[in-house]
Amino acid sequence: MSIIDDEGVSNMSGNEHFQDIVDTRLSRRNFLTGGLATAAAVSLGGVEALLKAVPAAAQEIEEAEDTDVGREGRWGQRPMLGFESVAVSSADEVVVPKGYTAEVLIAWGDPISNGPAFKQDASNTAEEQARQWGMHNDGIVYFPIVRSQRGLIVQNNEYTDDGLLFPDGVNNWTAEKTKKSLNAHGVSIIEVAKRAGVHFDLGRRRGKWDVVRPSRFARRITGMTPIDIGGPAAGDPRLTTSDDPTGTRVLGTLNNCAMGYTPWGTYLACEENFNGYFRKNGPQTTMEKRYGITAGGFGYLWHTTDKRFRVDEEPNEPNRFGWVVEIDPFRPHSTPVKRTALGRLKHEGAWVQEARNGRVVVYMGDDERNEYIYRYVSNLPWRQARAQGINPLDDGILYVAKFHADGTGEWLPLTPDNPRLAGWSLNDILINTRGAADATGATMMDRPEWIDTFPKDLTAIATLTNNSRRGTTPESVNNPDGSTPAGSARPPVDAANPRAVNNYGHIIRWYYRQDWTEPTFAWDIFALCGDPANPAHGSTIFGDKYGSPDGIYVDPSGLIWIQTDISTSTINSGNYVGFGNNMMLAAHPETRETRRFLVGPNQCEITGVFMTPNRRTMFVGIQHPGERPDDLPGDPLNPKQFSSWPDGPNGGRPRSALIVVTKDDGGRIGS
Ligand code: FEO
Ligand code: CA
Ligand code: CA
Repeated sequence: MSIIDDEGVSNMSGNEHFQDIVDTRLSRRNFLTGGLATAAAVSLGGVEALLKAVPAAAQEIEEAEDTDVGREGRWGQRPMLGFESVAVSSADEVVVPKGYTAEVLIAWGDPISNGPAFKQDASNTAEEQARQWGMHNDGIVYFPIVRSQRGLIVQNNEYTDDGLLFPDGVNNWTAEKTKKSLNAHGVSIIEVAKRAGVHFDLGRRRGKWDVVRPSRFARRITGMTPIDIGGPAAGDPRLTTSDDPTGTRVLGTLNNCAMGYTPWGTYLACEENFNGYFRKNGPQTTMEKRYGITAGGFGYLWHTTDKRFRVDEEPNEPNRFGWVVEIDPFRPHSTPVKRTALGRLKHEGAWVQEARNGRVVVYMGDDERNEYIYRYVSNLPWRQARAQGINPLDDGILYVAKFHADGTGEWLPLTPDNPRLAGWSLNDILINTRGAADATGATMMDRPEWIDTFPKDLTAIATLTNNSRRGTTPESVNNPDGSTPAGSARPPVDAANPRAVNNYGHIIRWYYRQDWTEPTFAWDIFALCGDPANPAHGSTIFGDKYGSPDGIYVDPSGLIWIQTDISTSTINSGNYVGFGNNMMLAAHPETRETRRFLVGPNQCEITGVFMTPNRRTMFVGIQHPGERPDDLPGDPLNPKQFSSWPDGPNGGRPRSALIVVTKDDGGRIGS
């Protein structure tokens, strides 16, 4: 597209001040050198203090102890992209560069502790599933216990393919099937450790990992786990049901897509497409239309045995989903909490950044066509809030992003004193966040997915995966009264979403001058995706082609990892002919050079990535291998029609799995 030059800067307005900001930031010598630097030591006292550490805190300890840092120097003094690109692939396997190894650590149905083994015919019971790794893993965080040697992995289980979840698929549906499907959703927590004795293995097996079984930390949080509702909307009448007249406790978390983690050592699981589990046969309310609560849902059959999912009978149950859920992985008996101050939307993820004065800033995308990007800022510095017994995620201000055509932007407050929200109470805003954002005139984006930050550069980066509903005729935007049905608006192109038909998606960045809490920012486009060798795509990628960026992760060195989610109906066909299977790439933040690092097996999505603090182990999620291209549940009579990964000929069906990628010489991933 013509508004993007080779430097990836979208603002061609001649706004010198904005350009100065960008140039200054990109040339800063210490650009992108560290993790969540200011979120360092967490002092909680007692035995827990030995275990409590946010990933970035451990990273700093690790780097201080890792003598290789001294030899290699910091970022900027060594090449960051040291591997040979892998080619596109349509093989039913994980492909990684020469000199790297990928191994499956745990797959759907494997025991999280000393629980029941997976049965390849999917005949494990609902109760067994509650002690096994959930299905279709997504966002992930590694929480160090002993730096990069031993830790907890928390990973979301976004959704299920109920055709593969049972020996006879979705036939003969029962209450037991509803329970198993609910138990395959949620979050899985495992303890992992580097395999004993192989650290110095001359056979180059260094870096291989095992699940610790049994582990006192291993835990499943499912669609049935009791979860508290916290923050301003707790107890609101719209959150009460016949089972919970208090509106303060809900069973389960659903459709946990991406994630986040806090400086105080907790995990954030984000509820994305929660609407699809519910059925509403009667007339939809305005809010139900705005969030997509429909008669058909996504085809799940839970409503046939559980009245929670029959909205005609339990009208408020959907209001108890669509939140960010805080989980303390180091306290296996703690009750997770839905943090309502972060708003209710189809939460992709929640990425936390600490501001200069200790307040926390949380970035969140609402992943649907033409939805918005949000920011939350805590009212108090997080340490002070916690010292007063206030959760920093319960007390703050929510904002929504407006991207202006001149390369600047602003955060519009979603508060009752915003004149555009006259008549809205705080709880009106938090429960119907989409409707409130509509009223402010925020910028409708091309499906906001993951967001990550470059902590020392005051820069955030976000993927906008694709959009087939922009610039079509007739054009329409979301009504300011919040009455537009989900996904139905057809806005014109704008500077931040410059393609009328955005088949390949793009990646956007925003910057601040002094601190993360500033009300305004400057922005640019990092890449318009597609095949740079095909002029018709208008891609600005410098390097290997990709499209539909979804996961994005800034590693502790500042290297950007991009994961793709080309829809299973489109993989290697239509607009994506020649792109092969879904993939993960690494991109240099300054030069933007992009190299393909990993390609997944057939019909999978690559989603979820996290490194150990020393960057010598990378955990990557492989989701829904073998999913049918027609979006129907898998065929239990032919479950391996499209993939038999990871178990191959001996397996009964394809399985989502978490893999471990290591470099054979023990070096840093990407070097
Ligand atoms: Fe669950 Fe937006 O991907
Ligand atoms: Ca995603
Ligand atoms: Ca996705």
